[in-house]
Formats: sequence, structure tokens, C-alpha cells
Amino acid sequence: MNQKPFIALDFPTWEKTSIFLDHFSESLNVKVGMELYLQNGPIIIEKILNKNHRIFLDLKLHDIPNTVYGAMKGLAGLDLDLINVHAAGGSVMMEKALEGLQAGTPANHSPAKLIAVTQLTSTTEEQMQREQLIPKTINESVLHYATLAKEAGLDGVVCSPHESSLIKEYCGEDFIRVTPGIRLTNDQKGDQKRVTTPRMAREMGSSFIVVGRSITGASNPVEAYERIVQEWEGLE
Ligand code: C5P
Repeated sequence: MNQKPFIALDFPTWEKTSIFLDHFSESLNVKVGMELYLQNGPIIIEKILNKNHRIFLDLKLHDIPNTVYGAMKGLAGLDLDLINVHAAGGSVMMEKALEGLQAGTPANHSPAKLIAVTQLTSTTEEQMQREQLIPKTINESVLHYATLAKEAGLDGVVCSPHESSLIKEYCGEDFIRVTPGIRLTNDQKGDQKRVTTPRMAREMGSSFIVVGRSITGASNPVEAYERIVQEWEGLE
């Protein structure tokens, strides 16, 4: 898999998505999340693949193991590069997600990489302690979830760049760290709390970055994307 940034296609319709994608002449890594997928269904994946882009399907599955198994088995037929679950669903749920993914992947394809969301990048340590009743630091919670995900056989995690180096140290270089919460220096944070720039994410050990509003909300999305790629690749 190439390491280009994943652009979060947080749009409600195919029309808006297609207008956005048509700004770009190259093949992209894109992330389809619940806003786009739940309002348009699996056909959206086919339409994006027809434009030659690679897809991270970010539905963050979190349910009982049997339900996640069935959902993952169905999604496995969609020709995705990356897919995810919430680590908070537990070890058995993650193991069943992996089994479902393997069972549903067509014989001539390799399964999508399966990763687990640790703590959302919109969650602060104080919120986590107060609302989830976890009396630990956010680093400890994220590392704990990463360890569970690795033990369950998953390929990596979604975390903030602030936790990437710790996860790399404990779970190994090959255990991938996908990091949202990326902003260029002067961009609005929005609802994100644990943010960094693309350059910082690279220095902190992220394997992939996910960028939404800094590109989709820019007056010139292609220029914003190119600036992010340059910072991420260390050319700037
Ligand atoms: O617009 P922005 O760059 O904040 O978008 C980040 C994207 O990454 C969103 O689509 C969001 O759903 C997703 N995401 C996240 N934090 C996670 C997992 C996914 O922000 N832990």
C-alpha cells in the first residue's frame, strides 16, 4: 500500500463527492466514513473504485462479536484497502471481526488491513477519565487498546500522532499507526482535540495520516492536498 495521506470524504452525497474528486487527476487514498456510507450504501464504494482510488472504510464497528463477524464478512467483498472496528468492543469482537473479514474475502483477493480505533482524536484525557471512568493517562489507555488489537491479530490501530511512537515501540514498526487529527499550522481544529501537523505526525511515527477538513474545506483543495503531501513526505 502506498503511504499517501487518506482524504476523509465526509460528504453526504455522491454528487458532492464526485465534484470534489474531479478536482484531482491522480489516483488518491480516500477514507469513506459513516456520513457518506450510511446515506449512500455500498454502491458508493463501487463508484469511488471506478475512479481508481483506494479506500479506507471507516465505519468503526462496535457490537457483539457475532454481529461484527457477519457485518465484516459482508464488507469484505467490497475490495477495500483498510477497514476498522472499535478496540473498546473487546478482544473477542476483534478476533471475530478478523475471522469475518477472512471468510468474506474473495479467493483471488488479499483481505483489507484490519485496524482498531483506540481513543478518538476528539477525546481529551480529562473526558476519557470522567466519562469512560478510565483512571489512567490517555497514553496508557491507547497503548492498552493497541496491545489488545495486536494480540487479536489485527494489523494496526487508529490513534493520534501523539501516541504513535509509543505504539511503534511496544507493538513494532509493522503494526500500523493511522492518525487523524491532522491540521496545517493555521487551520481550524474544529472538534478535534489531539491534533498535529503532517510533519509532526511523520516525526512522531505515524504510518498513514487521515486529513479531512483541511483539504475538503480549503478554497483550493488540490493545493491544500499538495502542501500536506509535501510536509508529510518531508519535502518542505
Ligand atoms: O476533518 P478532519 O481532518 O478532522 O477529519 C478526520 C476524519 O478522521 C473524520 O472522518 C473522522 O471521522 C475520522 N477519525 C477521527 N478520529 C478517529 C478515527 C477517525 O477523526 N479516532
